[in-house]
Amino acid sequence: MKKTVAIIGSSGAIGNAVSDNLINDESIGIIYKFSRSMSVKENERVKNIFLDIEDEESIKSSLDHVPSDTKFDLVFVATGILHNDKEIFPEKSIKDIDIDKLKKVILVNTIGPTLIGKYFIPYLRKDEKSVFAFLSARVGSISENKLGGWYSYRASKTALNQIIKNFSIEIKRTNKNAIFVGLQPGTVKSFLSKPFERNVKEDNLFTPEYSAEKLLQVINDLSPDDSGKFFAWNGEEIQP
Ligand SMILES: NC(=O)c1ccc[n+]([C@@H]2O[C@H](COP(=O)([O-])OP(=O)(O)OC[C@H]3O[C@@H](n4cnc5c(N)ncnc54)[C@H](OP(=O)(O)O)[C@@H]3O)[C@@H](O)[C@H]2O)c1
Repeated sequence: MKKTVAIIGSSGAIGNAVSDNLINDESIGIIYKFSRSMSVKENERVKNIFLDIEDEESIKSSLDHVPSDTKFDLVFVATGILHNDKEIFPEKSIKDIDIDKLKKVILVNTIGPTLIGKYFIPYLRKDEKSVFAFLSARVGSISENKLGGWYSYRASKTALNQIIKNFSIEIKRTNKNAIFVGLQPGTVKSFLSKPFERNVKEDNLFTPEYSAEKLLQVINDLSPDDSGKFFAWNGEEIQP
């Protein structure tokens, strides 16, 4: 049977590259691309569905556009915010902390993906391996935090990692084949990383296509024992 995939945040650099990679995979039947921007052309294998991750009703109603008997083999959550080219930028110090910016970053990076879990988990395949993968970030690891700063982004990803662990514990009771993981994509050329790319050595700045290929390899190699964990693009496990 061909596989069914949902990509949330398919307009982003990594989400789009994951989708492009999977389109060339003959084991994949349909790819549902959930996004605020609907510019991508549809065909019988690719469907675009509007979803605003900041709006619970939008997340819930997006699934009205998917057949009710759909079973996802893979749900890949690729949404996220670090800056918005305007007022939101990672905090360098305590004095940069601002309630509205904190709320926005946590809404997009933690609350939105949590609600994606709430509505999409019932659509996960149960009879075979299924994977629910969330793009997280290494800076969300508390044990690896040596530099400080980036209060809202770090905290939003740390909290996301906790939510992923919680999903894994609860769903293990009803779906032993489901695997929930956080993924660190590497430093990838995108709108999100643009202001910071000059701090990264050229060899360490990945194309979205390379990152997508590596992340899909990690997903392929996962087993149910990996559920609740956090992995880098090269398969290395990152400690919380
Ligand atoms: N790039 C890196 O170096 C890097 C490193 C570590 C972790 N990550 C993580 O990887 C993920 C993807 O990053 P990226 O580099 O691909 O960034 P990107 O190109 O900026 O993509 C971000 C995506 O998030 C979506 N998004 C933001 N707010 C949304 C909302 N309210 N509703 C629906 N979609 C929304 C954007 O959609 P719109 O087009 O509609 O705005 C876009 O599709 C993020 O979670 C990021 O934290 C990236």
